[in-house]
Amino acid sequence: MSKFAVLGYGVVGSGVVELFYKNKEKIEKKAGDDMDVKYILDIRDFPGNPYESKFVKTIDAIVNDSEISAVAECMGGVEPAFTFTKQCLEKGISVSTSNKELVAAKGDILLKLAKENNCNYFFEASVGGAIPIIRPLHRCLAANSIDGVAGILNGTTNFILTKMIEDGMKFDDALKLAQELGYAEKNPAADIEGHDACRKICIISSLVYGKHVYPDSVYTKGITEIKLEDVQTVNKWGGAIKLIAKVSELENGKILPFVMPMIVPFENLMSHVDDVFNAVMVSGDGIDKTLFYGRGAGKLPTASAVLGDVIESVKHDKTVFSQMWDSSENNEFVEDRKKYEAVMYFRVSANDSVKAIINNCGGNIIDESADGICFVTEKMSFEKSEVVAESIKNSGSEVISIIPVLEI
Ligand code: HSE
Repeated sequence: MSKFAVLGYGVVGSGVVELFYKNKEKIEKKAGDDMDVKYILDIRDFPGNPYESKFVKTIDAIVNDSEISAVAECMGGVEPAFTFTKQCLEKGISVSTSNKELVAAKGDILLKLAKENNCNYFFEASVGGAIPIIRPLHRCLAANSIDGVAGILNGTTNFILTKMIEDGMKFDDALKLAQELGYAEKNPAADIEGHDACRKICIISSLVYGKHVYPDSVYTKGITEIKLEDVQTVNKWGGAIKLIAKVSELENGKILPFVMPMIVPFENLMSHVDDVFNAVMVSGDGIDKTLFYGRGAGKLPTASAVLGDVIESVKHDKTVFSQMWDSSENNEFVEDRKKYEAVMYFRVSANDSVKAIINNCGGNIIDESADGICFVTEKMSFEKSEVVAESIKNSGSEVISIIPVLEI
């Protein structure tokens, strides 16, 4: 019999308990052992809850119980999740987590600790909700040299953008609905300002390129400045604006991770990924391109990924199965976002001389209206696009939007 504990009884933690008891027999068959939830850790009271007898308020009961072989950490935030996870791993208890903030901040330390204690730190649920992406990246696709990974990694922002475009819903109403549906972070600024997607691309980058990439080394811009006029113009031109998290390996050996709104051309399948769905496109020398797609947030989709890892923990008890990456002392292997090259979309206000500047930079006008002139450039670096923006400003025209076009 394998007994496990669930840390945190919020949206994801309660989903783990619900899905476990719903599919208990099937899960046990796959794990090859009888299983049960012995403890649920939460500082709140849940009177009348069917699992009331399992609730504890401190981690001590869990780490000092030799029957516990696995833990599902669904607390979120760095502390106290970091301390609790360390305590579990030090006792040889495998931990499966949905906590991307913790993995992005301390993944290197926790993976090392798991290895030292002959157990596992699994984090499939930390990226892409229900989508299997962590294990495919470090196992199924391990034979490839990965030149890039790009994805829609935040369900809340994708849901908001879809509701705004398709249902004409206001930003705040769409965000409120995402919160009610349990998609958004406790503080939704982490979603709309791109920090959640940033943590996820840090995890992918660390996993793929083998060195811990810290969130503060990744350029991050959310969706708060996206204008409906641009969404509509881009849609007519042949693409969708999405919040994209991307990392690529450069010829100079550095990596370039970032999060920002980008135009995804309609010929790229990711342009059709809507609502709370996420997608991750991996480009490698063996596979060419592979796309992973599914529900990126929500109670049961995320619980599915956590439980998948708990089952792995039970099957591989006392065997180190999880991936490792090196700690990094500095950010020198992370390239400046200004070096990133893309076709750029501009919206500028019209004036007499702006068309000559557009012409000089090889720009192609795609729309002219009272909202301004929209044009796309040839492929250029962000550095160069800033020079173009400066000369447009110097001509007396306002630069309203600059959005790069995704290429992977
Ligand atoms: N707030 C996150 C999202 C939850 O919307 O994608 C899943 O990580």
